[in-house]
Amino acid sequence: MKIAVYPGSFDPVTLGHLDIAERAAKIFDKLIIAVMVNPHKNPLFTVEERTELIREAVRHIPNIEVDSFPGLLVHYLQAKGAQVIVKGLRAVSDFESELAMASINWKMYPAAETFFMPTNFKYSYISSSLVKEIARHGGPIEEFVPLHVEKAVRAAYESLRNK
Ligand code: PNS
Repeated sequence: MKIAVYPGSFDPVTLGHLDIAERAAKIFDKLIIAVMVNPHKNPLFTVEERTELIREAVRHIPNIEVDSFPGLLVHYLQAKGAQVIVKGLRAVSDFESELAMASINWKMYPAAETFFMPTNFKYSYISSSLVKEIARHGGPIEEFVPLHVEKAVRAAYESLRNK
């Protein structure tokens, strides 16, 4: 059984992420979307909240599981018996850091390969950071995230404003 892990911060999950997940789930027997910790980012949502937002978005896809892990991705792959890391590439600018991550992960755990998938061009300009920036200033984000995520992002900024 080919198990793939799609790791990321997913703060929050966007339609671009979900498009990658849906397409990857058609290729592998099982896809685990894993909410990981990126030490360079200061998240809006807790890991639990991010996990729940993704779960709601992929409920209709039976071979997708959603999980979280606080440590190294390669340790998670080993624990799950996964052979593949799925990553979406939006533009050349993504490539440099993604290649570094793929190389280091392969060095630490050569039993797993990184598969890069081009992001659907419809979503190639979307990022969680841009979604948050727009929402922080009250701009429209409904084209970039599912409805329940839009509500959660708006509520998160609303509660920050009222603090
Ligand atoms: O969505 P992101 O923030 O670009 O995803 C990056 C992420 C979370 C996948 C990466 O930071 C990661 O794998 N973190 C887990 C810790 C780890 O394994 N680090 C070494 C791999 S470079």
